[in-house]
Amino acid sequence: MPDGGLFSDHHRTMRVLSGVWERAPQALALFTPGGRRIRYANPAFCRLAGTSAAQLQGAALLGVLGKAARPVLSEALRDLQSGQVEAVALDFDVEIPLRPRRRVEGRMEIVPVSEKRRLGALHLWDVTPRHETEDELRGALARLRQVVEGSPYPVIVTDARGVITRFNRGAEALLGFSAAEVVGRRYIQDFYEGNAAREVMDQVRAPDHGGKGVLERYEAILITRSRERVPVWLTVHLLYDEKGGEAGTVSFIHDLRHVMELERRLEEVQMQLIHADKMASLGKLAAGVAHEINNPLGGILLFGGLLLEDLDFSDPRRSDVDRIVQEARRCKEIVNSLLDFAHQRRRYQEPVDLNAALDQCMELLGGKALFHNIRVRRELADDLPLVVGNPSQIKQVFTNIVTNAVDAMDGEGELLLRSGCDPTEGTVWVSFTDTGPGMSAGVRQRIFEPFFTTKEPGKGTGLGLSLSYNIMRMHRGDIRVESEPGRGTTFTVVFPVPEEERCEP
Ligand SMILES: Nc1ncnc2c1ncn2[C@@H]1O[C@H](COP(=O)(O)OP(=O)(O)OP(=O)(O)O)[C@@H](O)[C@H]1O
Ligand SMILES: [Mg+2]
Repeated sequence: MPDGGLFSDHHRTMRVLSGVWERAPQALALFTPGGRRIRYANPAFCRLAGTSAAQLQGAALLGVLGKAARPVLSEALRDLQSGQVEAVALDFDVEIPLRPRRRVEGRMEIVPVSEKRRLGALHLWDVTPRHETEDELRGALARLRQVVEGSPYPVIVTDARGVITRFNRGAEALLGFSAAEVVGRRYIQDFYEGNAAREVMDQVRAPDHGGKGVLERYEAILITRSRERVPVWLTVHLLYDEKGGEAGTVSFIHDLRHVMELERRLEEVQMQLIHADKMASLGKLAAGVAHEINNPLGGILLFGGLLLEDLDFSDPRRSDVDRIVQEARRCKEIVNSLLDFAHQRRRYQEPVDLNAALDQCMELLGGKALFHNIRVRRELADDLPLVVGNPSQIKQVFTNIVTNAVDAMDGEGELLLRSGCDPTEGTVWVSFTDTGPGMSAGVRQRIFEPFFTTKEPGKGTGLGLSLSYNIMRMHRGDIRVESEPGRGTTFTVVFPVPEEERCEP
């Protein structure tokens, strides 16, 4: 024994204790607090220091465990010697040249040995494996967090009360709030419409939507910062703590706006197809009827004419017969329009200046009484490219649209005529905007149907727009309508322009 006084009182106990320390997996060194010299080091300490007990005997404590240990140990000693603390907890790296670095935890204290003597005790245990696992876990968690935080797919995590604890980049983009604004400050309930949050939680807890604790593909509406209602699919998982209690939720959100827009467009195309199909069948029907009526009408007109010739100018029946002939003529006009509609005859086509065609139409129509209180404004593009078409058919389209506008305004309002070209689409367009009452969605859907009219009997046949539609189809063009009740109506006719005629982009 280096110092007889150390074990003099409890010699046997001490022998047992030192035997225990000799075999202990923890490292122990005893040192003189003043001189900081090692007096005893157990085998575990020798292994940690990478040297033998003989080498450590009398060595400087601060020098044996590597450079990272030196400031830690020296500070601990200072604190102990100041008398403010009885023991210091330690946590540092042992770096011995040519040996793997070890992480240790432990404590240092100063223990009285006799009345006068004190010894320092340094007690360390190797925590390297635990630290490695912890580092690995921490790294994995950080990487996972990075993946989730950076994901463009919205993810929101909450605690058990619904307070938001994570709000990733995708959620920021979808809902218009930054993570800093909501984490710890807002409830996820705030983003749901009405009572939907409670409903979602009920469904998550129920077993029938993807299992207990899971809700899959639930359709809901979320409210953004700008109060926009966004349709979404939600997948919500309950999070549990170690005891199995509810600790929160994680919600994966799928924005449905894009999908819904596609569905809407598909529906629109379907409607157009149905419409085209209906027009074709109606065309056939109309052609059949018109054909059948044409001959008897011809007869009525012929014999009516003959009768008129036979009647004396003074004959009172003359005005009745005249009326019969006039009405029959009107019928014939309708039948002719029907035949036009049905046969979709291709007429002779030539280059047409749409501005000029529009002017000619307006000149003819402008004289009519209905036009007297209607202001006509023109915003026509100069140098409009010519289109190829049948001038009288094109004028017929313009006349139909203008007549409808004037009818709709009931003689009072403003008609705005505009024209222009779209170089990217390669089209020229003319638009007609009126300040009339506009149309409901139900009317707007049917205006191109033959015989659809909202006008009183005798005032409209409902053929104007269906004819115009067919004429525009024959010109490979389009006729578009924008109208809402109370907001007036704009009809736009669009013509394709031959390559060489197109205006500069
Ligand atoms: N500018 C408009 N403002 C409001 N409604 C309109 C307008 N243009 C057309 N409509 C609606 O579309 C329907 C169909 O128009 P269309 O030109 O095909 O037939 P019509 O004008 O009723 O009869 P026709 O033109 O054969 O004399 C109209 O009855 C009206 O309800
Ligand atoms: Mg009309």
